[in-house]
Amino acid sequence: MAATVIDGKAFAAKVREQVAEHVKRLKDDHNITPGLAVVLVGEDPASEVYVRSKGKMTVEVGMKSVEHKLAADTSEAELLALIDQLNNDPEIHGILVQLPLPDHLDEDLVINSLDPAKDVDGFHISNVGLLGTGQKSMVPCTPLGCLMMLRDHHGSISGMNAVVVGRSNIVGKPMAQLLLGDSCTVTIAHSRTKDLPEVVRGADIVVAAVGRPEMVQGDWIKPGATVIDVGINRIERDGKKKLVGDADYESCAEVAGAITPVPGGVGPMTIACLLANTLTACCRANG
Ligand code: GUN
Repeated sequence: MAATVIDGKAFAAKVREQVAEHVKRLKDDHNITPGLAVVLVGEDPASEVYVRSKGKMTVEVGMKSVEHKLAADTSEAELLALIDQLNNDPEIHGILVQLPLPDHLDEDLVINSLDPAKDVDGFHISNVGLLGTGQKSMVPCTPLGCLMMLRDHHGSISGMNAVVVGRSNIVGKPMAQLLLGDSCTVTIAHSRTKDLPEVVRGADIVVAAVGRPEMVQGDWIKPGATVIDVGINRIERDGKKKLVGDADYESCAEVAGAITPVPGGVGPMTIACLLANTLTACCRANG
């Protein structure tokens, strides 16, 4: 039986609608407009596309969007000065520094210079610690979007076996924390895991976030399992450019009970969660 396709695009539109309604109430009742600042250093074309899309959707939900585009050779001191300015700007409630940064900039130092309350990516060491200990924090957008889709599809995921393939700070590790928070039995696997297919075969939920095009194969999937594909890989096949995930969609969809497509799955949810996090940061800042 073919898998149910989890429509991240439609779900994200619903989340953005809810955010927009809340933003309108904040404006009408308290004259407050949430503000999101996005900082992009350098000219990575993929990052530029993301940043443009984030800016457009921020405005669409009624928030203030500020973009700071800095030259690739911007010094650490200049970047830290901008972050300090944004940390102290009362009209800015969320700050996102687009990653990756150019090599001469220390990513950890830059991220940890953000005010944790404005860190809408949830990458600051304080937010990582709060999430890991089950305390109120900013939650990274991509894993949060994945969790929302899983909860929506399953109702409860308590007691399910979840395998996260990938151990990045942005997705794999926080995803595992969130699944544990929802009482899954969690395995973090990665490209060096011994007999990865067999590990994945034990999963009721597979989150593919390993950064390798179409790595997770259909014969790795337990029949009926849910596959959440975080990958966004640009490949060329038969002379055509194509966007594919970290799971081989066709073979996985034949076996899985449910699967997220690429594009139209996790990607739109990430931006919707960024907007939701900005709204949360604004509400917390204003009591
Ligand atoms: N680059 C790729 N994904 C992300 C993300 O979620 N946040 C930031 N800041 N940069 C990214």
